[in-house]
Amino acid sequence: MRSVAVTNAKGGVGKSTSAINFAAALAEQGHRTLLVDADPSGNATLGYFPTGGSIIGLADMLLDGVPLAEAALATDIPGVDVLPPGDRLGVCSDQMGSSQGLGQGREFRIRRLLKGVIGYDLVILDTSPVQTPLNVAILYAVSEVLIPIDPCVAALAGVRALEVLIRNVSEFRQEFTDSGPLAISGVLITRADRTLVSRQVEAEVRAYFGPLVYQRVVPASVKFREAYARGIPLVKYDPYGGGAQAYLEAAEVFWNRGADSANQLAVG
Ligand SMILES: Nc1ncnc2c1ncn2[C@@H]1O[C@H](COP(=O)(O)OP(=O)(O)OP(=O)(O)O)[C@@H](O)[C@H]1O
Ligand SMILES: [Mg+2]
Repeated sequence: MRSVAVTNAKGGVGKSTSAINFAAALAEQGHRTLLVDADPSGNATLGYFPTGGSIIGLADMLLDGVPLAEAALATDIPGVDVLPPGDRLGVCSDQMGSSQGLGQGREFRIRRLLKGVIGYDLVILDTSPVQTPLNVAILYAVSEVLIPIDPCVAALAGVRALEVLIRNVSEFRQEFTDSGPLAISGVLITRADRTLVSRQVEAEVRAYFGPLVYQRVVPASVKFREAYARGIPLVKYDPYGGGAQAYLEAAEVFWNRGADSANQLAVG
């Protein structure tokens, strides 16, 4: 089972949108996917359940050992289940920063939880924009990260900080656990438009990350907001549009590249 965290310390770059659409695209391509909403704001869950998921979720698994089968929700899309954050995820995230309770061995909490997940080909975790202890614990648990980048000014600055964090976690993991390095499996340019700044930043990102950057960019489009408001992933809502096609193609490349070849491209 592959596990990938969609992450970027910057807000509003398309993390949740990418998690929602990768899950739908990969399920359509035949891979059973669990979308874990690890952001207390629950935006990824809203992408499938526009009126909100359930109050039970990831938090209850972490705090009370509730089994996945009781916390995960089946969606209208065959092959996609969603694990909502649960009402108490914010509390959990805070507790992970302390030396008490969830603070003990916090780096490995999510890792242990993921080890018990069976029946999926892939777990995708949507993360919050701030660098919380929960997000760090996620980096200790997954094997790959997917980085969406909105090509605006200073897009690369935040990503460099993320890359340092990934490298540190990767080294620590290899030293103290049986897991391999943490790999960047792909970099996805989102919300691209025809402005000069968009094209310049895209060129910078490609120069920096090289072949890790998916060839096709996700165009800026109002369809994303429309689809989101209806609780339908864009790849289903407007399957032949440019946005959906970009996600379908990126998801296919992501899958075909595989965890192993992603590891060969690992940072550090
Ligand atoms: N390609 C796109 N074109 C236009 N709008 C987009 C695109 N991708 C995402 N959006 C919209 O931009 C907003 C932010 O996207 P999203 O929630 O995916 O970002 P995020 O990185 O998860 O944000 P946060 O850091 O707050 O979790 C949403 O309203 C979403 O519908
Ligand atoms: Mg989000």
